[in-house]
Amino acid sequence: MRRIKIKHLKPNMVVARSVYYGNAHVLAQAGMVLTVDAIKRLDELGIASVYIREQYVPETVEPEDVIPEKVRLETIEMVKASFINLHDHLKLDINRVASIVNSIIDELLASDDILVQLTDIRAFDDYLFAHSVNVCVLSIMTGITLHFDKARLTELGVGALLHDIGKTKIDSEILNKPDDLSRQEFDEIKRHTNYGFEMLRNYADLSLLSAHIAFQHHERWDGQGYPRGLRGESIHEYARIVAVADVYDALLADRPYRPSYTVNQALTILERMSGVYLDPNFVTALVSNIAIYPVGSLVEISTGYIGIVMEVNKVVPTRPVIRIIVDNTGRRLSRTHMIDLSQFATIMVIRALNGDDIDKLNLREYVLA
Ligand SMILES: [Fe+2]
Repeated sequence: MRRIKIKHLKPNMVVARSVYYGNAHVLAQAGMVLTVDAIKRLDELGIASVYIREQYVPETVEPEDVIPEKVRLETIEMVKASFINLHDHLKLDINRVASIVNSIIDELLASDDILVQLTDIRAFDDYLFAHSVNVCVLSIMTGITLHFDKARLTELGVGALLHDIGKTKIDSEILNKPDDLSRQEFDEIKRHTNYGFEMLRNYADLSLLSAHIAFQHHERWDGQGYPRGLRGESIHEYARIVAVADVYDALLADRPYRPSYTVNQALTILERMSGVYLDPNFVTALVSNIAIYPVGSLVEISTGYIGIVMEVNKVVPTRPVIRIIVDNTGRRLSRTHMIDLSQFATIMVIRALNGDDIDKLNLREYVLA
């Protein structure tokens, strides 16, 4: 399974993960064979990339999502309904939000050994809702890594799910503007933190700490954030956790103004922000839940050979199972073989291949994107 940019999709490729628009509307069902028309339609609807079934290495273990697709879709729909309801009727069903967050927590506690490998692919219109669910899932995983109890996980999860709710008060034309925001427009976008806090703080059933996540998730470790320029531990820990999840998920999303980064690029950027914009401990906690070399990525190992990642496990995420496809002279092997790096203490992954390496070694067919 591989995420492929829309411009590289070709007819006869097989969709590996369903692509949704809203909850009920499936734009491309998993298993569907793409046609020229289908690709054109996805493009018109603002889908920037699609997971495609692996053709070259059919024995690849398809990665599991950390929560079942059904729970993810229901949550996205609930967030959407909540945001609309709050906007139109100024009412939010906190109990419903809390109950769905609790079901996500239960799923994540039960699947503690699964690493995040998949990125949810959504139409641009759905971005805010799908992103909110991703941030909620990543924040709860971070909380579990930090041994939070159930009550704190709920406070964190509810606040993470609603962290951007203040955006419902902002004109969508400003929100989705590809670039060239004026100073005033940018200031207006920044106000979503205050709006969110004001919207949430008066709900008796909602922890004031959850409301503070909406208020503080753009504050930065070095004090360069907004709205108040808080610094370090004066920013509530929930907001510091959500800030990391928010940045990481935003990097993996296709946006109207830029395509998504790869997992490796996103992790490198996160590492650079660690200790500057983001709390370094929480970056480490989040990263421990991410498959650094996700299934399908190309890596170079210490013997100089190059392989494709077939399987990862959470116990030793830096030592995946790979299929060797190129030898240490750059020659493509006609007979590939599998190697489980967890069984070879002396061999390790040196790096993930980038686009230039892939072109140089003529391995595009393994990547396509
Ligand atoms: Fe935000």
